[in-house]
Amino acid sequence: MKKFFTVMMFALMLTTTARAAEFEMVEYSAQVKLQWLAAAGIPEAQKFLKLIDRPVFFNAGNLNDFERIELTNALYQELNYAAAIEFVRQNDRRNVFDLACSLSPRAMVLGDEDRKVIVGELQTVCLIGDWCLEEFGSKRAIKNVEYLAFWLQDKEGMMSAADKLKGEICIIEQGVMIYLADDVRAQMYENIRDVLKKHGGCLITSDFCQKKYFTDVAAALYGDAQAPTLYNETKAMYENVFGDKISDETLQDEKEAMDFLKTHGLVARKVPLFSASPILNISRKLTPAQLQKVNALAAKNYLWVITAL
Ligand SMILES: C[S@@+](CC[C@H](N)C(=O)[O-])C[C@H]1O[C@@H](n2cnc3c(N)ncnc32)[C@H](O)[C@@H]1O
Repeated sequence: MKKFFTVMMFALMLTTTARAAEFEMVEYSAQVKLQWLAAAGIPEAQKFLKLIDRPVFFNAGNLNDFERIELTNALYQELNYAAAIEFVRQNDRRNVFDLACSLSPRAMVLGDEDRKVIVGELQTVCLIGDWCLEEFGSKRAIKNVEYLAFWLQDKEGMMSAADKLKGEICIIEQGVMIYLADDVRAQMYENIRDVLKKHGGCLITSDFCQKKYFTDVAAALYGDAQAPTLYNETKAMYENVFGDKISDETLQDEKEAMDFLKTHGLVARKVPLFSASPILNISRKLTPAQLQKVNALAAKNYLWVITAL
């Protein structure tokens, strides 16, 4: 018994060390995204941040051009958040597979609408996600939302998580591609294709035009001349958080991206982010001229709806 206990303790220590390294990178990117959504005024993001109670990462004291970076990222994140929710509602998707979304405010919202939501994340995020669900999830969200730990490149892990959903699946994936090595990205798309072939449904993402999309968001707020600066400042900020270079040029050419998808048994159609001008929490922070430009952005085909061939 004593020997068993020692072996278990050792295994736990090893796991804990590996998890700690995993946690660092993950926790930071998860938290920064919540910071932007909270700044946009998304109540669920504010609740996550309040509960995890960590020092705020970026502020005017440690990030040059903080105000403009914050508003640009808050708008970009709210557009993504709201567009995914609108897509799920309009297409009445009952099953949502939220991949690598970190702690997920939209899972709270969609789960509360009685949709099944599985959040696929790394173990540490899942542990915090479960805790947040218990602390402030509605009864329906607690019943419908589940955090499951697997790597995006883990074929069996992704499929066994997807198998918990009955019926067609709407997969949401946003903003993770730039962090992945080529082989991991390719494997992730193979796994997604297998899930879509087996269950039906689609993947929605704007990853294949994220550079242009983000730059257009910055331009809507601060003009075309300033947009590249805001893009580069944001990229530098994320590289700082991530601790390495991010590959933001990857698959940003439409033909190259479509060919890549075809190679992996997938096909995309591009649709507008929103069917009508969206009602955004961040609107109260914008001038009428900015709002007008944001409404024009909302009609652009930044959302790719990807299905299995
Ligand atoms: C930058 S965040 C994702 C951003 C978020 N989807 C958004 O909309 O901004 C990256 C997330 O992906 C997760 N992640 C990174 N690499 C992963 C992998 N190989 N497998 C599973 N999750 C991963 C991290 O835990 C982190 O929460």
